[in-house]
Amino acid sequence: MKSSEIRSIFLDFFTGKGHLVMPSFSLIPQNDPTLLLIGAGMAPLKPYFSGERKPPHTRIATCQKCVRTPDIDRVGHTGRHATFFEMLGNFSFGDYFKEEAIEWAWEFVREILRLPAERLWVSVFEEDDESYNIWRERIGLPAERIVRLGREDNFWEIGTGGPCGPCSEIYYDLGAEEGCGRANCIPGCDCDRYLEIWNLVFTQFNREPSGELTLLKQKNIDTGAGLERLATVMQGVTSFYETDLFKPLMAYFVDLAGGAELDGSGKVSLRIVTEHSRGIAFLVGDGVLPSNEGRGYVLRRLIRRAARHGRLIGLEGSFLAGVVPLLAELMGSVYPELRERRDFIMQVIATEEERFQETLAMGIDILDDYIQELKQKGEKCLPGELAFKLYDTYGFPLDLTAEILKEHGMTVDRHTFNRHLSEQQRRAREARAASESGGKTDSAYAAARDLETVFTGYDRLEEEAEISLILVNGDARERASAGESVEIFLNRTPFYAEAGGQIGDSGVIEAKGGRAVIARAFFTPSGQIVHEGKVQSGHLSTGDRVAARVESVRRRGVCRSHTATHLLHRALKDILGEHVNQAGSLVAPDRLRFDFTHFKALSPEEKRQVEKTVNKVILENLPVTAEQMTLSEARRRGAVALFTEKYDQDAVRVISAGDYSKELCGGTHVKATGEIGLFRLISEEGIGSGLRRIEALTGMEAYRQAAADASLLQELALKWKVAPEQLLLKAEELLEANRELERLNRQLKERLHGYTVKSLLSGVEVVEGVNVLCSAVNAESFEELRGMTDLIKNSLPSVVAVLGAVHEGKVMLVGTVTDDLVKRGLQANKIIAAAARRVGGGGGGRPGMAQAGGKDPAALPQALRLVKDLVREQLAAGSEAGGPQEK
Ligand code: SER
Repeated sequence: MKSSEIRSIFLDFFTGKGHLVMPSFSLIPQNDPTLLLIGAGMAPLKPYFSGERKPPHTRIATCQKCVRTPDIDRVGHTGRHATFFEMLGNFSFGDYFKEEAIEWAWEFVREILRLPAERLWVSVFEEDDESYNIWRERIGLPAERIVRLGREDNFWEIGTGGPCGPCSEIYYDLGAEEGCGRANCIPGCDCDRYLEIWNLVFTQFNREPSGELTLLKQKNIDTGAGLERLATVMQGVTSFYETDLFKPLMAYFVDLAGGAELDGSGKVSLRIVTEHSRGIAFLVGDGVLPSNEGRGYVLRRLIRRAARHGRLIGLEGSFLAGVVPLLAELMGSVYPELRERRDFIMQVIATEEERFQETLAMGIDILDDYIQELKQKGEKCLPGELAFKLYDTYGFPLDLTAEILKEHGMTVDRHTFNRHLSEQQRRAREARAASESGGKTDSAYAAARDLETVFTGYDRLEEEAEISLILVNGDARERASAGESVEIFLNRTPFYAEAGGQIGDSGVIEAKGGRAVIARAFFTPSGQIVHEGKVQSGHLSTGDRVAARVESVRRRGVCRSHTATHLLHRALKDILGEHVNQAGSLVAPDRLRFDFTHFKALSPEEKRQVEKTVNKVILENLPVTAEQMTLSEARRRGAVALFTEKYDQDAVRVISAGDYSKELCGGTHVKATGEIGLFRLISEEGIGSGLRRIEALTGMEAYRQAAADASLLQELALKWKVAPEQLLLKAEELLEANRELERLNRQLKERLHGYTVKSLLSGVEVVEGVNVLCSAVNAESFEELRGMTDLIKNSLPSVVAVLGAVHEGKVMLVGTVTDDLVKRGLQANKIIAAAARRVGGGGGGRPGMAQAGGKDPAALPQALRLVKDLVREQLAAGSEAGGPQEK
């Protein structure tokens, strides 16, 4: 049975049992800060278990993409551990419970999959007699096939807490030959014989943040069956890698690696590359980008680990990116994002692969050196600071370092590594906190948690409202007086709170008895709008009726920038390609910053085109409208909505600028594009792996910039006494004239040096039969000094010459020794090194030619005088040793 069939018959089976089938959720958890990635079918459904949110149906079934990395070390070594997998699951939220869950699971494996009963085993939680009895009596499973296991195996929960409960697992016996061979081997054994294919969790409890276990309001069911494992069993094989989910991918990599059969560690590497390639593509497909933190780090680690194992079997270049089209073909019908974002996924992976390839070889070399040193010292643990250096400078994930060390029977001091890492992260956090909104925690706003503020600012800039809470230094206050800094909460407000890149509004809040100036509005971590500012006069009290007025000039500037951001986004997609997606933005009055995915710098022509396109749309004065609709409607109408999971599926706000752009957005906008006035692209730069940033101006700021540019041109034209349109020509003329002058200058200097050298020749001294010439001269660079020593050598076929010069307070020394004298043991590098020490510096070179810098011009005569002594010493040493000293 093909894996695609297993997926569909599972979902069909549970549709028949009254379940609503939902598509897989994103791998990125939505509104759940406790989870890094979705690692189980139940994870995106957490609020339905607690009853905190009402599910669309009390019975749901899914095939959920999952990423889990705790077993990453076992990937490839076994045929049943993966970092990416698909989990088939049926869920009940306060609907059916143990009996139906067990019965239906049994019906599915026996009657639909037709797995032979004699191969099936089950486990139950040791205290769960109820489940035991259902298996024993209702299903009629023989007692010896039901194993009671402890909390470790049969109480399922996520490490970070949440809905959990005892569970019952179904195992498939792969046969004694796959196992440990022990007579008492049963499910729960660590060997590979019994493959767990389905976990039925009776989700009755909640693990609180305190660690305490509390009863949920309702009884739920959460089941999970790994698709890869079911495929293993249904396709009569013993590992994932032999199923139709992995086989084509493996074949692709084998081909790429030269087609030879691999075994031993080569086979493990091949499996690792294959396995990781799936998770890598799916993570990027869901919007994760490689970084050094959180999800981005999980992705980076997978890519780097795969890149390294690829190298071990001869794969180089962007081999991971190259498998994406095949993967999109294999799985695109179930996960359309793989097809839709295929090029984007490939680009992100290729960029990261290239970046890493550059440093990988270097990092491996360095680590090899460390390993050799450890071996020499007879030590087995790499110091944490060295591992950190590899991580910090060469992008080596700690686990990669640990893995390579393990291959040499060594370990790494993780504790010290982590200390260095958290120190670095703390510094980064502190730097960030300074610039981030509020920087305060939820608890600082505990008093505001149940307040509600109606936002009316899409249509109005002024609102009658009532003060519901005043905070001064985080404490609730009845009243605040002139001079005090306050945070004010209102029941209604026209103030836009900073969100989606758009900065918060400023303005005033005015009551009968006083007035506060509001610098900005933002959301508390739990979603209330805060007006932050200062009481300017009188006082404000809780319950006061007030007029809340947004500063309209500033707001209009923000609206211009925000609409311009949408036009820019569309223009970039049209000009560069659909792979361009917004990755972040800052929308301020008449100023915007737009981060987006793209893989190379924009050419000057592309920048011109982008700017021109946006300005054309501005001139067309298209109406800008906001509409509420369902997410699917928005998609149907072609709205730009990349990672839609963060939106409310039933009511999204779509902003349209005529037919030109349509985008999901909660921000404020102009009424027609003409209001933007003018758009100027100021800069474009790279800000990370596959990410670029554009800064642009709108409205009066754009005009001001244009005016400033024009007056700069005027000033230049005046200075050079030409018309502005002739500036370019003039600049070229000047550059040409300058080049000519430089050439002349060089010629003159050479002549001058010729004279200098001639006069120096009269100062040659003979030391033990050797011509020695040392002198201070006028020169501005080492190059000039070297030129002079060459001239000396042209006139004297056998000489030791050392020239010194002082330029801008620094000493330069150049020394040369002709070959015949090198043979007699004279070494320019040693002479120069000793002379340089005199002038407080150092340098290097070869016996024939050396140079050095120094800091002490006053000591230059002394240093030069030293040369004759050095020559004498070296000659003496040379004759003692009875031969040349050259290395
Ligand atoms: N949550 C359980 C698991 O992940 C069953 O879905 O195994």
